[in-house]
Amino acid sequence: MITGEKVILRMAEKEDLEFVYDLINREENRQYLSVYRPMSKKEEEDWIAGTAQKATAGTDYTFIIIDRKTKKQIGNCGIHSIDTIARHGEIGITIHPKFQNKGYGPDAITTLLRFGFESLNLHMITIAAIETNKRAIHVYKDKLGFKYEGTLRDRKYKNGRYYGSAWLSMTRDEWEKRKEGVNDA
Ligand SMILES: CC(C)(COP(=O)(O)OP(=O)(O)OC[C@H]1O[C@@H](n2cnc3c(N)ncnc32)[C@H](O)[C@@H]1OP(=O)(O)O)[C@@H](O)C(=O)NCCC(=O)NCCS
Repeated sequence: MITGEKVILRMAEKEDLEFVYDLINREENRQYLSVYRPMSKKEEEDWIAGTAQKATAGTDYTFIIIDRKTKKQIGNCGIHSIDTIARHGEIGITIHPKFQNKGYGPDAITTLLRFGFESLNLHMITIAAIETNKRAIHVYKDKLGFKYEGTLRDRKYKNGRYYGSAWLSMTRDEWEKRKEGVNDA
């Protein structure tokens, strides 16, 4: 387990099936995620089973986000597509709609950043959001200090039209400065 201020990140277990099945099938979340269709329980069962294997391979670390107070699942997150040479990885996160706008997301991402930089020895961590996801971009840039790199045009297709994909990143050096309270943005 990895402990943050409000959340704990732990590996996915069989007992998480109902929760992840509900989470991935929420249409209000799907508009912001790469997933474009409903997922079956079997697919989610396989997804859970695959998470430990990928972590062992060292290229993808996926966690269930637990509320420290209630010990209940509130979302999932992870560092994916790890480039073991350039020491780079991409964060993904989904908080269940019931628990959004309560500060869990920033704490889960901060906890992931600490894990990525201080346990995995990553050099850079990126995070991307569909350009209309103003909440996510506000959280990543303004609340967490990720640097905006640019928007890849027409990289996503949702609801009958193309959208750009906004990319943000943080280096290990920037993370250390942030921990020391230095803001040179
Ligand atoms: C994006 C997400 C991770 C943020 O986590 P969270 O726990 O909800 O974040 P917070 O509790 O800090 O609250 C959201 C912040 O965005 C602000 N916000 C909410 N809606 C907003 C909008 N439409 N435009 C701009 N800012 C918005 C809130 O005011 C708050 O900022 P503040 O603390 O400065 O007032 C989470 O909402 C989520 O998982 N959303 C659904 C899936 C998703 O978008 N995943 C990310 C894919 S890139």
